[in-house]
Order: sequence, then structure tokens, then C-alpha cells
Amino acid sequence: MSTDTAAKPVALITGASRGIGRAIAENLGRDHHILVGGTNAERVQAVVEALPSAEAFIADLGDAEAMKQAWEQTGLTRLDVLVHSAGLAWMRDVAEAPLSEWRQMFEINVFAVAELTRLTLPALRAARGEVITINSGSGYRSRGGSALYSGTKFALRAFTDALRDEERGTVRVTSIHPGQVDTDMQVALQESYGNANYDGGRYIAPESVADTVRLAIEMPAASMVEELAIRPVNP
Ligand SMILES: NC(=O)c1ccc[n+]([C@@H]2O[C@H](COP(=O)([O-])OP(=O)(O)OC[C@H]3O[C@@H](n4cnc5c(N)ncnc54)[C@H](OP(=O)(O)O)[C@@H]3O)[C@@H](O)[C@H]2O)c1
Repeated sequence: MSTDTAAKPVALITGASRGIGRAIAENLGRDHHILVGGTNAERVQAVVEALPSAEAFIADLGDAEAMKQAWEQTGLTRLDVLVHSAGLAWMRDVAEAPLSEWRQMFEINVFAVAELTRLTLPALRAARGEVITINSGSGYRSRGGSALYSGTKFALRAFTDALRDEERGTVRVTSIHPGQVDTDMQVALQESYGNANYDGGRYIAPESVADTVRLAIEMPAASMVEELAIRPVNP
């Protein structure tokens, strides 16, 4: 654990070892104590050590028992911010997609989000906190190859719409929908499209997605960013 004060609001960020989640951890880490989520202990520890106040939250989100244990180990009874950034993405035509791939992607992109939210909801309610999901443009649109990924992100939007309604007045719920972001995930997707000339500068910087998270949490208490789309200028 690295810490400079015990009095900061607390944010749990999944997928904070890399990519968008890491940028969110660095941004919120300026004034929050951060629980850095990930599976890779070395990468998680490197993020923890770079932040003023942070600790590791290591769990494979596909393992419900590990996720429960990691949450119980925090001992937290109040949680100000829960950001769901961990996610999987690959393209596959329906004709080529085995049931195991549907299950794997829904497990991380949807079921783990639902379960971690359920576990943390009493602490979020106690803090009158907020839940932020990193959804996608694919949460609004589906096309050839995108049945799995868009399927999970449409389901995630259904989840956030319902949760927002249920917790209105207690916990704020924000769904952020980035277009292409310059991360490992985008590198792998472009490779799978056969794009040999990856140019990260064409895409949204992870730090820009982090700025939208900060915008949502800094809204005055009477207002809520329900959904926010951020797109590259020249996709
Ligand atoms: N990149 C884009 O273009 C883009 C666009 C729109 C939306 N999004 C969404 O943004 C979110 C973050 O994407 P990204 O681009 O930052 O992805 P990324 O660079 O691939 O990073 C994925 C993160 O998720 C974590 N993760 C993966 N599987 C996990 C598991 N089973 N248990 C726990 N953690 C796991 C990884 O942790 P470890 O490395 O420690 O395992 C890593 O921190 C995703 O939900 C994605 O769908 C991305």
C-alpha cells in the first residue's frame, strides 16, 4: 500500500493495471485513495507505487469467489467511486463463435460487473457514491463481427439503465461510451483487422476518457452525467 492521507475519498477501479483504467487511476489518484484492479500482480503493483495513495485489488473477475475475497479483504464499509473498466474485446463472426467465447466475454464484460456492483452496493450507498462503467460505441451499434462484443456492451447498458433507476437519489450511475482508444486492446483489434500501420495518435488518448470520468464525479450532487459518448475526431 502507498498512502499519504487516510481522509481521501476511495475509488475502486477494475482494469487499472493498463489502458483506460490505468489513466483513470492516475487522474482520480490526484485526490482519491485508489484500489487498483487487475490480475497481473507486477503491473498492478507498479501502478500502486506510482500513485500518492493506493493499494492493490488483485482478482480474476471471472472468478466470483476471488472477487468476493478481494472485496472483503479491503474491509471497506464506504466506497465513493466504483469504475468498471476491465473488459475483453475481439471480433468474431457468428458462424465462427463457439459458445465458450460468448461465455468468456459475457463473464468479464457483464456478469463480473453485476456481481462486483452487488457486493459493493452497501458501501456505495453509505458514501452516496457513484458507479461508472466504461462501455463503448459498440454499446449502441452492432455490425458484422461484433455480435459478441456489442452483445456484452448492449447488455452492460441495460444493466446501467436499470441500476440508475433503482438507485436514483442514492448512487449515481454513469455510462461512458468511447470510440477507439489508444490501448493494448486497440492494438490487438487493429492487428485482427489486418492493419499493419497502427497509429495510436489517430485514436482517443486514455487520459481523455479519464477526463470524462472526472467530469462525471465532479458534477454537483443534484446532477448526474447519465451517458457520455467520446469519439476520435478522425476515426
Ligand atoms: N480501447 C478501446 O478502443 C476501447 C473503446 C471503447 C471501450 N473500451 C472499453 O474500455 C475498457 C478498458 O479497455 P482498455 O482498452 O483499457 O483494455 P486493455 O488495455 O486491454 O486493458 C484491459 C484491462 O482489463 C483487465 N482485465 C482483463 N481481464 C481481466 C480479468 N479476467 N480480471 C480482472 N481484470 C481483467 C486487465 O488487467 P491485467 O492486465 O492485470 O489482467 C487490464 O487492466 C473495456 O471495458 C473496453 O471494452 C475500450
